[in-house]
Amino acid sequence: MNRTLGVLISGRGSNLKAIIDAIEHGRLDARIAVVISNRADAPGLVHAIRAGIETLVLNHKEYATREDYDRALIHELRKRDVSLVCLAGFMRLLSPVFVDAFPDRILNIHPSLLPKYPGLQPQQQALDDGASESGATVHLVNKDLDAGPVVMQARVPVLAGDTADTLAARILELEHRLYPAAIAAVLDGTQS
Ligand code: GAR
Repeated sequence: MNRTLGVLISGRGSNLKAIIDAIEHGRLDARIAVVISNRADAPGLVHAIRAGIETLVLNHKEYATREDYDRALIHELRKRDVSLVCLAGFMRLLSPVFVDAFPDRILNIHPSLLPKYPGLQPQQQALDDGASESGATVHLVNKDLDAGPVVMQARVPVLAGDTADTLAARILELEHRLYPAAIAAVLDGTQS
């Protein structure tokens, strides 16, 4: 079975790093064929470069439409025989063109217990809502934002005095364990 991943990032790339580490330590049996960023200055690219993984910058501003951009992404991923696309802090909406190209083969990680707090600033949304817990969700991507089938979730408490930043840090630690485990489950076909 093809266990080739393509990872898409826009920024810091700590989840990418967690995936790389899980592969290197034998906790995830997979290979990352390429890391693609829509921003040339994404700090996370360095994690791929250090690990000897091919990187590619596809700047969305250089494409006339969202669909044109997505077709370029599809082309690069298919060229490398990617079977599972992992969004890791990729802050771009993907069009139906992209979703249809990889049906049930796109994963995203989101820092809330979806369906709670989709979209932007989910940690602040949890605080504003007075939630007593939050967490992280890995889900399959479909055509609706942050609404595809859940693959795995993990929870953390919201503590008195939490700010969006302290809550985000607590959730992020969880994400780094959750994402590799969820990728493994999808590759093994054991996700619920
Ligand atoms: C992570 O917290 C991830 O869950 C979130 O962005 C952060 C990326 O961090 N993604 C979303 O909010 C997607 N809607 P990273 O670049 O260090 O992996």
